[in-house]
Amino acid sequence: MSSPAAAPEPANLMEALVSLAKRRGFVFQSSEIYGGLNGFFDYGPMGVELKKNIRDCWWADMVRRRDDVVGIETSIIMHPKVWEASGHVAGFSDPLVDCKVSKNRYRADQLFFAPIVIDGVTHGYVSALESEKTTEELQAAAELFKRKKAITGALAPVQPKDFTEATADEITKIPSPATGNPDLTPPRAFNMMFQTNVGAMTDASSVAYLRPETAQGMFVDFKNVVDTGRVKLPFGIAQTGKSFRNEITPRNFIFRSREFEQMEMEFFIHEDDDWAKWHRYWINWCKDWLKSIGLPDTHLSEYDHLKEKLAFYSKGTTDIMFKFPFGVQELWGIAARGNYDLGQHAAASGVPQTIFDEATKKKFVPHVIEPAVGLDRIFLAVLTAGYAEEPVTDEKGNTETRTVLRLSPRIAPVKVAILPLLKNKEQLVARAQALHKKLQRRYAVFYDEGGAIGKRYRRQDEIGTPWCVTIDFDTIEKEGDTFTLRERDSMAQRRITEAELFALLEEQVY
Ligand code: GAP
Repeated sequence: MSSPAAAPEPANLMEALVSLAKRRGFVFQSSEIYGGLNGFFDYGPMGVELKKNIRDCWWADMVRRRDDVVGIETSIIMHPKVWEASGHVAGFSDPLVDCKVSKNRYRADQLFFAPIVIDGVTHGYVSALESEKTTEELQAAAELFKRKKAITGALAPVQPKDFTEATADEITKIPSPATGNPDLTPPRAFNMMFQTNVGAMTDASSVAYLRPETAQGMFVDFKNVVDTGRVKLPFGIAQTGKSFRNEITPRNFIFRSREFEQMEMEFFIHEDDDWAKWHRYWINWCKDWLKSIGLPDTHLSEYDHLKEKLAFYSKGTTDIMFKFPFGVQELWGIAARGNYDLGQHAAASGVPQTIFDEATKKKFVPHVIEPAVGLDRIFLAVLTAGYAEEPVTDEKGNTETRTVLRLSPRIAPVKVAILPLLKNKEQLVARAQALHKKLQRRYAVFYDEGGAIGKRYRRQDEIGTPWCVTIDFDTIEKEGDTFTLRERDSMAQRRITEAELFALLEEQVY
C-alpha cells in the first residue's frame, strides 16, 4: 500500500474532528438527547481513555518523576473568602455586550468594529465577530455599505478595533452583528464564577463558588504541604481537576467550555532567586513535554504578554500557543506571579504564609512560577495535529481514503488491537485470546474478530491505535509463535514474537 499523506484543508479540519470525535466515541455534546447544553461536553469510551492518558503522562512527568514537585487534590468548592482574597470576586470578569433587540450576548473583546472612511470622511461603522478573517469581513462589509449607498470616493482600508475600545459616541453607531442596526449596549463586567449555596439556607451568607481555577487550592494548602511534606525551596505543588467558568461565548468545541479540566503547578522559589531563569525553565519544560506526547514543533509558538497589560504584581507571562484549525491560540500559560497569591491569603486569613530561611535567619513569602494548562485544550491539540486523511492504494490498485489519527503511543486510547485472521478457526481465536488476556493486564488493548482484516485496520487507524497484531496461519503452523505486527503510520507489516511485542510496548508506552 502507498500513502501520500494529505491532511484536509484547515477550513474543514474542525468539522472533520468534531465528526470523528462523535463517530468514534471521543466527545459527545452533554445532554444531547435534550438538545445539548452550550459549553458542556461528555467524553466517550475512547475520549475518556485519551484524556486519562494525557493526564497520567502529565502527572508522571510533572510529579512522580521529579523530586521537587508534590501533588495534591483540593475541593472544588472552597471557602468564599478564598475567592475574595484571590481577586476573583471583584475582578474575574469578561466585558459583556448585549444586543437589545436580538438578545444575543457578545464578549466585547471578541466583537470588532471599524469606521467606514471614504475620502477621509466617516460614513458609518461595520462590525464582525473575532475570527481568522475578521479584517477581511469588515473590509467586505465596508465595501458593500459604500456600494449600497452609492457613495463615490476612495474607501480607506478598515482599521479594526475591539468593542472595549469604542467611545460612547461610537457605541451608539456600531451595528449589532445580529441586526445590522446600532442595538448594542455599552460593555459591562460579567463575573464568570458559577455561584451556588452551601447548606439549607439560600441567602447571602451561604453563597459559594465553583472554582474557576485549580491554582488557589495550592496556595491555600501551601502551609499544610510545607509543614507535612518535607519540601524545600524551590519546590512545586501540582494538581489536576475540574474548573468552571460561565464563559459568555463558549466556542470552538472543547477549546473554550464552561466546565473543563486544568493541570496546574505552582513552583515556589526564594524571593531572591532568579525568577526569569525559572520562568524560562518552565516554558521550555512545557514545550518539551508537549512534544513528548506527540505535538509537532511546527504547531507550537510563544507569545509574551505585553508588559503594560500585565497585572501589577505580575513579572511576566508567556503563553505557549498552538496552531488550532481556527487559528493560533493559547494552549498553556506560564506566569511569574511574584508573591501576590500567598501574600493575599496571608493578609485575608491572618495566617502567615512564610518560609524560614536558614541562611539569613529571616522569614519571607516565596515567589511563584505557575504553568497552567487546560487538559481539554491539549486533547483538542492532539486531535488537530494527529488527524489526517490520505489516499491509499491496495495491492489490487484500488484507491480509497483512510482516516488516521497519528497519536503518540504514550496517549493513544488503545495501544494494540489483537485480530485473529478468521473468527471461525478455533486455534487462531484461542491464541489471540490468550495474547489479549496477557497484554490486558498492563495495557489498554482491543480484541476484534469481526469483518475483513482491512476494515479492522481502518477502524483502529481512526481511533489512533499505533499497532495491530494479527494472529494468522503462520502463527499456529510455523515455528516461533510469531504474529504480524502492522504499524499505523507506515502501514508496514513485519513478524514479531510475543517477547518483542512486550519490549516494544515497554519502550514506547511510558
Ligand atoms: N491559574 C491560572 C489560570 O487559570 P488561565 O489562563 O485562565 O490561567 C489556564 O487558564 C489554562 O486553562 C489556559 O491556558 C487554557 O489551557 C485552560 N482554560 C482556561 N479557560 C478555559 C476554558 N473556558 N475552556 C477550556 N480550557 C480553558
